[in-house]
Amino acid sequence: MKISLTHPNRRTFKKTANLSGTVRVPGDKSMTHRAILFALLAEGTTRIEGWLNAADCRSSLEVAKQLGASVSFEQESLLIKGTGGSLKEPENVLDCGNSGTTIRLFSGAIASQVSFACLTGDDSLRRRPMGRVLKPLAEMGAIAYARSGSYAPFALIGQSPLSAIRYTLPVPSAQVKSAVMLAGLHAPKAGGVTTIIESQPSRDHTERMLLGFGVQVDMEKEGEKRYISIRAEQPLRATSVEIPGDASSAAFLLVAAAIVPDSDVTIEHVGLNPTRIGFLKVLQRMGAHVEILNQRESAGEPLGNVRVRYQPLSGTDILPEEIPSLIDEIPILAVAAAVAEGKTTIRGAGELRVKETDRILAMAKGLQTLGVHVEEADDGLTIIGGKLNGGVVDSFHDHRIAMSFAVAGLAAEQEVTIENWSAVDISFPTFSDLILELQRERKFE
Ligand code: S3P
Repeated sequence: MKISLTHPNRRTFKKTANLSGTVRVPGDKSMTHRAILFALLAEGTTRIEGWLNAADCRSSLEVAKQLGASVSFEQESLLIKGTGGSLKEPENVLDCGNSGTTIRLFSGAIASQVSFACLTGDDSLRRRPMGRVLKPLAEMGAIAYARSGSYAPFALIGQSPLSAIRYTLPVPSAQVKSAVMLAGLHAPKAGGVTTIIESQPSRDHTERMLLGFGVQVDMEKEGEKRYISIRAEQPLRATSVEIPGDASSAAFLLVAAAIVPDSDVTIEHVGLNPTRIGFLKVLQRMGAHVEILNQRESAGEPLGNVRVRYQPLSGTDILPEEIPSLIDEIPILAVAAAVAEGKTTIRGAGELRVKETDRILAMAKGLQTLGVHVEEADDGLTIIGGKLNGGVVDSFHDHRIAMSFAVAGLAAEQEVTIENWSAVDISFPTFSDLILELQRERKFE
């Protein structure tokens, strides 16, 4: 037995022999949030297949219900009867739990409703910056009162009609972009076309999925700059959405395959949206054997199978322009860097400091505990690779930190125990089961 449950909220991972086999990971978290929200806004009943049934997406589902969605289940599918665009005034505070995507995207939709809503979340979410969405929404005409000016809980008093704006994103954030786009759907004043300008491409699931709900989104490119425009008063029509496996969840298993000798792991049916798979390019550059097989498209999103075979890794420089395409994979790439030969630098990743926890600090502390030479920068990390020792590390209640150190434990010299392990339920409740499955299927020499 390679994984032992030592305490309900602690888990220990030990050095393993090769990982091998073909598995699927749960549905994409970003896409599930959007499918639930767009279904709430649409006229008719939307069927969502492959949705992620994990704590973050259940937060979106609960908030959607409070805003008027009727939710039912048919085998594995989620059925949501929408409101046709007129949200119900919520009777209670909207608790978004740990989910930044829930609080920021739903705010964009609520901003145009003539109603009062109060949004909040857990300790982590209440520490994360909300001014980045409330500011543009206020510019469009919504009224927001936030704790200390820009933190949850905040009250949002929607206004109708809103004014269209031209908004340059101060940070490359798909959550902010999506919130402004959703408000733009009800912003007929000031020309009626809301344009968001991003200088680094952030994930584009909103743009792709809105098309499926019958909304026209225009995109123009000028070098790396993108202009995303949305015209007001376009109704959403219910549809069927098929959600592929989450590339960010697959990343943990694929990095595990890249660092545990003799491994050969394939993840089937996983999302391959180019704005999400920067980590595969980095792994390849570090020397991992990466193959993309059976590439296809469904519901406007590319997907396929990804196979990674072990090969010794070397350090690399992860550059600022690569960051948006791998922002959620930096913790697990830091683990790959810790076992790679030589130095890895990660820069331009200051956004990591305002994720579920300060991920730069959490990774630096945890890797130091495991005997790795790490230096923290304001916007990244420098890691000198070598071998990992064992130790007890804290997830800081962050799902991606917990799983990154679990993978570290599979390659470390001694066992690694992760405190506050239950955070994995936020995005990947079956993580440990899949690791066990890949251990069971392993090849014996
Ligand atoms: C997400 C966008 C990213 C990402 C988060 C999910 C989304 O956040 O880190 O896990 O679904 O739009 P930012 O928009 O803050 O960069």
